[in-house]
Amino acid sequence: PARIRTHHLQAAKEEGRRFAMLTAYDQYAAEIFDGTGIEVLLVGDSAANNVLGHATTLPITLDDMILFSRAVTRGASRALVVADLPFGSYEVSAAQAVESSIRLMKEGLVHAVKMEGGKDHAETVRAIVRAGIPVMAHIGFTPQSEHSLGGYRVQGRGEAGRQVVDDAVALAEAGAFCVLMEMVPADIAAEVDRSIPVPTIGIGAGSATTGQVLVWQDMAGLRHGKQAKFVKQFADVRSVLADAARTYGEEVREGTFPGPEHSF
Ligand code: KIV
Ligand code: NA
Repeated sequence: PARIRTHHLQAAKEEGRRFAMLTAYDQYAAEIFDGTGIEVLLVGDSAANNVLGHATTLPITLDDMILFSRAVTRGASRALVVADLPFGSYEVSAAQAVESSIRLMKEGLVHAVKMEGGKDHAETVRAIVRAGIPVMAHIGFTPQSEHSLGGYRVQGRGEAGRQVVDDAVALAEAGAFCVLMEMVPADIAAEVDRSIPVPTIGIGAGSATTGQVLVWQDMAGLRHGKQAKFVKQFADVRSVLADAARTYGEEVREGTFPGPEHSF
């Protein structure tokens, strides 16, 4: 099947269809999700949490993101692959943001970049778009700013809802092909979707967005512990893996694996 491109997501919005995005950080996840028709794969800087074991997304580097991006793009033949600009790779200047985005495209082989930040970042979005690189904007709760936002909290409640809508409008005007909203009230997300011509993607943003995203380890139940309210666990992959590893370990210890059929 032909590659999903940004205009297909735009058509989805115009025709009232929804689409799905999942994070992916490696070849197999990319290949499996791509094969099921997931339209967009996000090489999220959440690899910091979900692969590297960090507590926040702040430590991951542009080089790390390029490594994960290369693995995902090798595994995905149909999905649009988007990579996050990690913390520290775009805030200094528009030139820095363009250089980092070029590296993600040239070395990571992704098809678009995602950048956190509201209307203060509109000029940066414009500069990246001018370089021929599609930009997905990320507003609402932006994990790279968790220390200034005071932790994981819903953004845009009450009066602050106006700000979220204004951010989305400014970023769409600057040329973002899509606006992702994390942890914003459903009515504000719906207003954003009505206020901009480009598709929206939600995570903890209700059901009126054009698309939806989840972290794959949350979606598949690989991660244990308390989940965010916006997570739905569609499988229990952690138990499946643990059962496989437990049985393997037992068979090795009791001498039933490897058997004659596994031997040369
Ligand atoms: O890095 C990530 O996983 C993300 C999603 C939560 C949108 O940015
Ligand atoms: Na991210």
